[in-house]
Amino acid sequence: MVDHRRADARRNYARILAVAEQEVAAHGGGASLEQIARTAGVGSATVRRHFPTRHALLEAVSRERVEALRLRARDLVGQGESRAALLEWLDEVVAYCVTARGLAAALAYPADDPLHGDSCAATLEQAAEPLLRRAAQDGRVAAGVTVADLITLIVGIVLATEHHADPAGETHRLFRLAVEGLSPDRLPDRQENRPEGRRRSQSGGMDHDVTDPAPASGEQFWDEFYAAEERIWSGNANPLLVQEAEALPPGTALDLGCGEGGDAIWLARNGWRVTAVDIAANALRRGADHARDAGVGDAVHWERHDLSRSFPDGEFDLVSAQFLHSPVAQAGERETILHRAAAAVAAGGILLVAGHAGWPSWVSEPPHDVHFPTTGEVLAALDLEPGRWRVEREELIERDVTDPEGRPGRRADNILRLRRAA
Ligand SMILES: C[S@@+](CC[C@H](N)C(=O)[O-])C[C@H]1O[C@@H](n2cnc3c(N)ncnc32)[C@H](O)[C@@H]1O
Repeated sequence: MVDHRRADARRNYARILAVAEQEVAAHGGGASLEQIARTAGVGSATVRRHFPTRHALLEAVSRERVEALRLRARDLVGQGESRAALLEWLDEVVAYCVTARGLAAALAYPADDPLHGDSCAATLEQAAEPLLRRAAQDGRVAAGVTVADLITLIVGIVLATEHHADPAGETHRLFRLAVEGLSPDRLPDRQENRPEGRRRSQSGGMDHDVTDPAPASGEQFWDEFYAAEERIWSGNANPLLVQEAEALPPGTALDLGCGEGGDAIWLARNGWRVTAVDIAANALRRGADHARDAGVGDAVHWERHDLSRSFPDGEFDLVSAQFLHSPVAQAGERETILHRAAAAVAAGGILLVAGHAGWPSWVSEPPHDVHFPTTGEVLAALDLEPGRWRVEREELIERDVTDPEGRPGRRADNILRLRRAA
């Protein structure tokens, strides 16, 4: 007798679930529970006994797809470039949510719903965590982003476009927009300032050998630049930094566009506590390794920023921008960064800006259309508060150097050393 009842209950459950799948596919997460009961030939009380809440029903309907996405995340963890792997998985979540109606509604319930310990949302969050962690460790996803954030974004977009004429196209477009951000310099088809071919240079320059067919952003350009060789710069500090900073009492320093950390490590060795910033995650990783090898790992804090978009917190006794040039910079980008750099200088502190004054003597055909500002132009762009700053050095320095082929050459750089009033 008991077995009969159990068998009946199992049959009812299977029939209700099959009907629920059809109803949810046809009407989405809001499908009528009464209609499901009618079509399945059972009373509403029976539906509610098996699925006490709408959430429980949607969970059951979505289980197979969630399992497929879980396995897919597991496969992608070890594959390819970390951000691309994460995006591939998220694109699949988007596609499933668009085609399998009800999945987005199921995911809209919080992962920590006490009634559904292993809910769809919790399963996906756990599954994608290693994918996201890898991308964040590579500096390819902003720190602090969670899988729950990404799923919430997708659910929001899918539910908001459910009644659009082309839900799949519109969801995909809006999700891309969220991934790329709103600013034009993040969009992949940016045309201006695109460097072409191979560049040659010497330390501190922008014309180091690198092949760059079509960078989508500053981040991609500089990551690829550093990926081209195991080590790009010499590892020594810039002579202009050494010249200007060696007599300063050590304090806190901010190194903007630190590259592989030669300056940051020199500062740390000389007693400074340094925040070193770059757009390129691989350069920062190298810098951190070199600092550890040099025994000053604890004195340097590495932060990844596209400085035109975000900036480290705090004030510093020394803010240094050494050759912060970029062939893929937007118009006005360097000026914006230097303006924020000045604002980050503590009372009595120093802003040090070194930059090339032009291409070196051996570059007869400049590979990029880059403007090298004079110190006067830098000062004008800084637009410093009158009476609050003193110009301690403003100089054009020409020097004999060796070109990449080992021949004698000439190079001219600008140096600006400004002190904020105490
Ligand atoms: C020409 S290299 C100079 C590196 C180092 N300061 C030196 O003097 O050797 C310019 C550096 O600025 C970084 N950079 C360029 N644009 C940036 C941005 N918007 N935000 C942060 N770093 C940036 C690059 O990744 C690169 O490491």
